[in-house]
Amino acid sequence: MMENENKKVMLSGIQPSGDLHLGNYLGAIKHWGARADEFDCYYFMADLHTITVRQDPAQLRRRVLTQLAQYIACGLDPEKNTLFIQSHVPAHAQLAWVLDCYTMFGELSRMTQFKDKAAKHKDNINAGLFTYPSLMAADILLYQPDYVPVGEDQKQHVEICRDIANRFNGIYGDVFKMPEPYIPKVGARIMSLSTPDSKMSKSQPEGCVFLMDRPEDVARKFKRAVTDSDTERCVRYDRENKPGVANLMAIYSAVTGKSYEDIEAEFEGQGYGKFKPAVGEAVVETLRPIREETERLLADKAYLEGVYRAGAERAAYVAEKTLRKVYKKVGFLPR
Ligand code: TRP
Repeated sequence: MMENENKKVMLSGIQPSGDLHLGNYLGAIKHWGARADEFDCYYFMADLHTITVRQDPAQLRRRVLTQLAQYIACGLDPEKNTLFIQSHVPAHAQLAWVLDCYTMFGELSRMTQFKDKAAKHKDNINAGLFTYPSLMAADILLYQPDYVPVGEDQKQHVEICRDIANRFNGIYGDVFKMPEPYIPKVGARIMSLSTPDSKMSKSQPEGCVFLMDRPEDVARKFKRAVTDSDTERCVRYDRENKPGVANLMAIYSAVTGKSYEDIEAEFEGQGYGKFKPAVGEAVVETLRPIREETERLLADKAYLEGVYRAGAERAAYVAEKTLRKVYKKVGFLPR
């Protein structure tokens, strides 16, 4: 089943720092289920990373569990993927310490995300925020993955991971496999419903449709979606001049499979009054099974526990193998 030696390995961490939304789903998660056919996939909830910014403990627990349930509901089959929680596999923290000693103050100081987050959380510029990249390097290198799927904003972290791995390998021989960033081919870029020139984001809740939103809230958000101020008022795909309409068309296309031409024909001569609720309805129907399945899974705590325990066990087996090798290389005496 999962132990396919010939499959390339893929690994990605997801921060349980917010609720998932339509942009996350259509742009990324929807396409993850199919990857398992081609790759041996590891996905983990990066809770260790999340506490670099203050979290409410009860909310963090809830989010980790909700996200796990949502990923499963979105099609990540725990029988075909290794799904686990980062803090359940101590090797992450253990390797991170070792890698800290092979990561330079200067290179950490240059990380864009550190500079951004330090500016945003001036009252809590903690050491974990600073060494975040070496923990992420540990996450990756423990599993010797071929590919790390990341968004644009995380590319620099994969780069520094490669630099750290190179430095370590340069001293001790080929311990770590060199991971490549993986930029997915598919996935729609979904923009905010209220400000269609910026990406859909939880920080702008009015323009953001959450996977767990009630149908009436989804419908309302679409009815209020910004279209455009031109006088044409027709459903035509033009990213440049009609970003709001283009975004709604991209969403409608992604959830129905219809082409832009089909959509233009469907709403020919109808203005936006019909179009916006139709997109809303299609989204409601797409999200309904995901929301219901998430709720069903969340009500079945024993099942979710079984998933993350089995995931941690499989992950730890692989991770500890790499950690033992590293400990030996640096000269730690075996217990
Ligand atoms: N830093 C990533 C993010 O914020 C999450 C993450 C943690 C990650 N460890 C990882 C992603 C390892 C890929 C691989 O999105």
